[in-house]
Amino acid sequence: LQDGELKIWQGETTDVVSSISSTPTYAPTLLGSIPSMGEKEALEALASSDSAFKNGQGDWPTMKVQDRIKCMESFVSQMKETRNEVVKLLMWEIGKTLPDSEKEFDRTVEYIYDTIKDYKELNHEGARFTKVQGINAMIKRSPLGIVLCLGPYNYPLNETFSLLIPALIMGNTVLFKPAKFGVLLLSPLLKAFQSAFPKGVINVLYGRGREVAAPIMKSGLVTVLSLIGNSKSAIALQDLHPNKNKLRLILGLEAKNPAIILPDANIDLAVSECISGSLSFNGQRCTALKIIYVHESIADEFNKKFTAKVDALKFGNPWEDNVFLTPLPEPDKPNYIQELIDDAKANGASVINQKGGERSENYIFPAVLFPINKKMRVYHEEQFGPVVPIMIFKDIQEPLDDMAASDYGQQVSLFGKDINTVAPLIDVLVNLVCRVNLNSSCQRGPDVFPFTGRKDSAVGTLSIHDALRSFSIRTFVASKDN
Ligand code: G3H
Repeated sequence: LQDGELKIWQGETTDVVSSISSTPTYAPTLLGSIPSMGEKEALEALASSDSAFKNGQGDWPTMKVQDRIKCMESFVSQMKETRNEVVKLLMWEIGKTLPDSEKEFDRTVEYIYDTIKDYKELNHEGARFTKVQGINAMIKRSPLGIVLCLGPYNYPLNETFSLLIPALIMGNTVLFKPAKFGVLLLSPLLKAFQSAFPKGVINVLYGRGREVAAPIMKSGLVTVLSLIGNSKSAIALQDLHPNKNKLRLILGLEAKNPAIILPDANIDLAVSECISGSLSFNGQRCTALKIIYVHESIADEFNKKFTAKVDALKFGNPWEDNVFLTPLPEPDKPNYIQELIDDAKANGASVINQKGGERSENYIFPAVLFPINKKMRVYHEEQFGPVVPIMIFKDIQEPLDDMAASDYGQQVSLFGKDINTVAPLIDVLVNLVCRVNLNSSCQRGPDVFPFTGRKDSAVGTLSIHDALRSFSIRTFVASKDN
């Protein structure tokens, strides 16, 4: 999709391959291909976005609220027709289980409806008019300009749309680059984009970041860089912009969310929440629990119950019944996870579950590592995959000090019963992270809740409410009673 037209791509293409084998002897499956765009096509797409925004004078940025809503409603109703196709591609391209793929699709549809609802409220008459000291003010939220939007592979639909949809509805024009994995699943949606939005309002960039996103950033025309992914890419792209003062950043980055299990915690509850928290979608979630701190008095019991449950998790293809662990889309990930395991072992940890580290071509069974210390890579790195480090603490000050020293600050899970211990801890934890989950695992949703982080974990906030504000600027028209 370029310049609002669906074009038949004549140039070179890149194969899209699934790590899931469709043959009894393992062989990755060829799913299709995408255009290999280069600098020339990227700059054409940029010119299209620029002429649609037209320095704020284009049809889209000046369109009435009701008309923009109609475009968005038209898009979402067409999108719903693509559910089966998109869900199938979510399974094949990134290995997400069928229930989770369906959930991702449905959650995204709901996200769009909630965005429309919030956008209406934002523009509701009562919210817009105010009179102070004889001056009437009509408050508006106005678009910022051209938004470059880059989504992650683990939520190629939902998270990408949590940038794209608010950016669009606020009247910006959007250049959007999908992640390396989870890219074909956008194809069924291209027609809906084309028919719902005016020409040039949305352009899709297929290709490598350095070939398509870099020249766009260098142009200096991008007003907002919105990215969910790693800070290395965010910093590299940001540095290419010739005038950083003119660039707004909306970023969802790395995290190392801890679980802290206090001596009086309900251990069975903590075990089941830590399983889903650390290993849903094979741990490939920025909100995943990436380190577990367990009090020394309950470590044996917790470890025994936790490892038994991990070993009972079913591995298989995403569409199989009750499957929990699935093939990893990134071919190099098992090697990386193995490196973390080897390093932890060399520094004094053991793999404490029986199946931990078992390998197949594109998969490694989750390894539970214990006891963790700060010499280990897995203590410092965001593993984003199937490995669960467990660390012992004697005094609650130990995990608190570690969190304070960490580069990250997204969320924490706190397990404990005694309100007199938990309540003062919450007062501290909210100053270290942005969401404290009591007796439950970390998660982003529901999508109306603020999604952000401290330190290197985020810039800006991505709930629906906040995202509408992040992708716009507050303006107003002032007049006096005559
Ligand atoms: O990768 C990070 C995602 O935002 C995680 O979202 O908590 O809904 O799985 P989730």
